[in-house]
Amino acid sequence: MALATKTTSLFLLLLAVWCFFITPSNSATDSFVFGGCSQLKYTSGSPYESNVNSILTSLVNSAMYTSYSNFTLPGASNQDTVYGLFQCRGNLNSGDCGRCVAKAVSQLGTLCLDSTGGALQLEGCFVKYDNTTFLGVEDKTVVVKKCGPSISSYSDALGRRDEVLGYLGASDGTYKPFRVSGSGDVQGVAQCVGDLSPSECQDCLSEAIGRLKTDCGAAKWGDMYLAKCYARYSEGGDHSHSQKDTNNNDDEIEKTLAILIGLIAAVALIILFLSFLSKLCDNGKGGK
Ligand SMILES: *[C@@H]1O[C@H](CO)[C@@H](O)[C@H](O)[C@H]1NC(C)=O
Ligand SMILES: *[C@@H]1O[C@H](CO)[C@@H](O)[C@H](O)[C@H]1NC(C)=O
Repeated sequence: MALATKTTSLFLLLLAVWCFFITPSNSATDSFVFGGCSQLKYTSGSPYESNVNSILTSLVNSAMYTSYSNFTLPGASNQDTVYGLFQCRGNLNSGDCGRCVAKAVSQLGTLCLDSTGGALQLEGCFVKYDNTTFLGVEDKTVVVKKCGPSISSYSDALGRRDEVLGYLGASDGTYKPFRVSGSGDVQGVAQCVGDLSPSECQDCLSEAIGRLKTDCGAAKWGDMYLAKCYARYSEGGDHSHSQKDTNNNDDEIEKTLAILIGLIAAVALIILFLSFLSKLCDNGKGGK
């Protein structure tokens, strides 16, 4: 009897650990890149608040059907007008785009609580809302710049990197808001927010790519996020950089440890309780 319960507990423990490890997480799309909020706050319960909520809801709904959309919601006065947009990375399917925008909007809700404006970039999508119009305005402000460690075997990898960036920045005059390129094990990706005109998009990407070259030098990987476009490259595999991976792993290990400790405590309690019960039973039998 005791052996059977112990086996069952062990089985449950293993099951729980296994479930934990196979839980799917779409880190390549959902990882946080940057977020920012305007310092002005609206009063909660105001018409502006309900406009913000409507805009954010519209963005989430729209993201299930298209990879870019913009909304304008006029308010009673000019300063109550809310503008909003989202842009998914061009290679996301509509399901992933919808999930990404929903996640970004929910994070914006916590990050920019009661702020009149906010912007958030996840790996897979960008969301922004504000009461000043930014729709169709090119903005090349550097928001995030990250460069990896230097390439060790200089010439080859650097040549491939420059080739990849060259492809990314090349223009044949057509509108290409999403671009990927690769050479050997170096890969690149670039994306404009859909409110830019073809020439503005090209201009924004040229700026991002130029900055990658000058600011990141001979780095193994680089991320250059400007306010309305980004360009990234990395050596080997996808765009999950070792830095972020280590952080994720640390998080996972912490979670696993916490869960394991909880489970061990629970199992110990169950065993204690069972041995207490069996003593009670034995005493009962002895009494007869
Ligand atoms: C945005 O809202 C804030 C706070 O209500 C207000 O002070 C500001 O003037 C508004 N901006 C515009 C462009 O209306
Ligand atoms: C905003 O969306 C409308 C359609 O809903 C579109 O006609 C317009 O061009 C968009 N504006 C920008 C700046 O993308």
